[in-house]
Amino acid sequence: MSQLVFDEDMARQLEAVYHTRDVLRRRQLVREALGAAPGERILDVGCGAGFYAVELLEQVGAEGSVVGVDNSPQMLAVAVGRCQGHDNASFHQADATSLPVQDESVDAALCVQVLEYVPDATAALAEVHRALRPGGRLVVWDVDWATVSLHSTDPARTARVLRTFDRHLAHPSLPQTLTARLRSAGFEEIGIQGHAFATNELIPDAYGGSLVPLIEQYVAKQKGAEDEATAWLADQRELGQRGEFFFACIQFCFTATRSA
Ligand SMILES: C[S@@+](CC[C@H](N)C(=O)[O-])C[C@H]1O[C@@H](n2cnc3c(N)ncnc32)[C@H](O)[C@@H]1O
Repeated sequence: MSQLVFDEDMARQLEAVYHTRDVLRRRQLVREALGAAPGERILDVGCGAGFYAVELLEQVGAEGSVVGVDNSPQMLAVAVGRCQGHDNASFHQADATSLPVQDESVDAALCVQVLEYVPDATAALAEVHRALRPGGRLVVWDVDWATVSLHSTDPARTARVLRTFDRHLAHPSLPQTLTARLRSAGFEEIGIQGHAFATNELIPDAYGGSLVPLIEQYVAKQKGAEDEATAWLADQRELGQRGEFFFACIQFCFTATRSA
């Protein structure tokens, strides 16, 4: 079993998902929590396809700047294309635990659905702390996959499928330990907000609706799980057609500061 690979194929799939209603809602919540101001220098750790970068460039204006870091060259290529024409945006391929930015050089940082993939998430937080100026702000967003609630005609099979899907990342329940990790990385004023993402429609615009095919795709690739994944997806589609689909999960927005 292996972690999800953020290659060209995944970049293409996420490109579609990141235009959907619930992901737009999430970006708005993150931007509100970050509160980027004109002239600020913002660090986006695990910037992916650059959706936040391009929106934050609007917020910080010509006097500000955005630095994006990601370890996937395929995701970075999309981000670079998206921010073309902005000479105050820069992108670097690096691991979250080894950020190519100077000490105390950024005003604020964000890290959205990235640390759950990083084995040493606390080391990544310590790196962000190093990069922030005194008084600098951080927003971290991750999903607690243990909160997923999904209706099914075969709950035992769904539990097995979700357990297998948990292996697509390093930390299925990272929010449970984020407060302690942020504190040990040196952060203060640690806040938490939980946001429910719920839907009764199996549609791509809903987070749960867009996730179901991705879960099936990942689980079907695992040894011996293909038939189970196919049957599980068929069940979800039938529930969707009958108007009985149900998905809910809680996503967590943490805010923290480096002491002034
Ligand atoms: C689910 S995507 C989120 C992208 C972006 N933050 C967003 O919300 O639009 C996760 C991203 O984290 C990146 N990533 C995963 N592990 C990483 C690591 N150890 N260091 C840097 N980036 C990493 C992936 O390449 C991918 O682009």
